[in-house]
Amino acid sequence: MPIANKPILFYGIEAIRDAGIQDIAIIVGDTAEEVKQAVGDGSRFGARVHYIKQDAPLGLAHAVKISRDYMGQEPFVMYLGDNLLSGGIRGFVDEFTRGKYDAQILLTRVKNPSDFGVAELTGGRVVGLEEKPKKPKSDYALVGVYMFTPSIFEATEKIKPSWRNELEITDAIQYLIEHDYHVQSHIVEGWWKDTGKLEDMLDANRMVLTGMATRVEMKQLEDSEFHGHVHLDDDVEVKRSILRGPIIIGKGSRIVDAYIGPFTSIGPGSRVEKSEIENSIVLENCQIIDIGSRMTDSLIGRNVIVRRGDKPPRAYRFMVGDNSEITVL
Ligand code: G1P
Repeated sequence: MPIANKPILFYGIEAIRDAGIQDIAIIVGDTAEEVKQAVGDGSRFGARVHYIKQDAPLGLAHAVKISRDYMGQEPFVMYLGDNLLSGGIRGFVDEFTRGKYDAQILLTRVKNPSDFGVAELTGGRVVGLEEKPKKPKSDYALVGVYMFTPSIFEATEKIKPSWRNELEITDAIQYLIEHDYHVQSHIVEGWWKDTGKLEDMLDANRMVLTGMATRVEMKQLEDSEFHGHVHLDDDVEVKRSILRGPIIIGKGSRIVDAYIGPFTSIGPGSRVEKSEIENSIVLENCQIIDIGSRMTDSLIGRNVIVRRGDKPPRAYRFMVGDNSEITVL
């Protein structure tokens, strides 16, 4: 899934690399081939990427367990591929290296703690952790970036699967706390997103676009205007349209008689004609044509066509993939 036209996973890889870590193992499951194709051997990131296959989604602590041989006796970072942190992780990694802790976790306040691992704090110190508790003991959620020493492998051997049949990393860290290992915690001040849901992806897209610089060549615009931060990749053509940033439009896309409003990412090779789009993510090779009213808060997958029909009956016609949602007026 791209955020501002870049796969979420790449932000994680870059954050790890920017923290001075060159050896990265990606735990892959069903989408192994897609991940390998996108990331390759890591050389484009200045890293060495190795792949470890997890045969079934048996949990984050299971992912740690199957990485034991790869990690050897080294301390390491576990970074969940759908997490985005504004300030990167360099500061946290440096602190962990200096601090000689057994593990380090990051916490941030959330409105819906029951959706996360939650920390119980006494006088600023973490005294307990619980995964997706019905009655959370605080609103401090565990961010999906963890720093471990090999002591975590002892914990992953000892814990039992949770109600969702996963070996929970939260339970493994709780084991460390109970067995007097030093688990250091930090509060994350910048923004953080776990991008599992639509609203979270749109939020993350908004946050990344907000920090982006303008990139427009006047020859890309014909009878068009732009305001705010607008990033147009090469070969983008804009005719008789209004672009209101922050937005990004991917390589080779054509925008004609359209309005692209704030917080929108349009993937490469797409066409938007006679339509208005705002606060949305449109993936590559889509066609949004003459849709009549403004499209907002939407996520459109690859190779999707949304257009007004030109012959009767006057009716909605859909061909929609799994797990989709359509809202009509
Ligand atoms: C996982 C962890 C949870 C953590 C969250 C952060 O949740 O189990 O403790 O707060 O990542 O993204 P999951 O994505 O498995 O629901």
